[in-house]
Amino acid sequence: MSSYKLLFVCLGNICRSPSAENIMNHLVEQAGLSDSIICDSAGTSSYHLGSPPDRRMAVAAKGRGIILKGRARQFQKSDFEEFDLILAMDRENYQDILRLDSGMNYLDKVRLMCEFASHHSEQEVPDPYYGGSEGFNRVIDLLLDACDGLLQQVIKTEDLKGRL
Ligand code: 4NP
Repeated sequence: MSSYKLLFVCLGNICRSPSAENIMNHLVEQAGLSDSIICDSAGTSSYHLGSPPDRRMAVAAKGRGIILKGRARQFQKSDFEEFDLILAMDRENYQDILRLDSGMNYLDKVRLMCEFASHHSEQEVPDPYYGGSEGFNRVIDLLLDACDGLLQQVIKTEDLKGRL
C-alpha cells in the first residue's frame, strides 16, 4: 500500500505551513508511522520561492522542540493528484487553492487546518508575518493541537482501510 500524503499550504510557505509540516512529521515519527505518512508544504504565492523557514518562526518552533526544515515552493495543480489531503491554514489560502480546481474535482481533498484542533476555537491559523513573537508562539500552539487531531483522524480513517 502506498503512503498517505499530506500537504500543508499557507501564503508564503515560510511560516505556518512549514511549521505544520515539521510538527506533523514529529508526531508521525513519535507514532512510528514515518513509512506510512508523508508530509510536505507549499505556498499559494511565489513570494519566497526557495527560501528557508522564517527565522522568527524557527525560534518559536525550537522553543517547543521542533526544528524547521525545508525550502519554500509554490502550490501547483499537480498537487491535487499527488496528495491525499491538502490542509489550508486560512480561508484565503483555501480559496486560492480551489481557484486552481476549475472542475471542482478535488473539493473533498481540501480542508481548513483548524477543523482538526480540539483545544482551540480559532477557525484559521493567523498570519504571523507582520506581528511580534507572541503571534509566532500562538501559531505553534494552535498547530500542535490541530496536527494532533489530524493525526488521530488519519489513523482512524486509513487504519480502517488497511493503509497504515
Ligand atoms: P506564511 O506567512 O503564509 O505563514 O508563510 C507569510 C509569509 C510571507 C508573507 C506573508 C505571510 N509576505 O507577505 O511576504
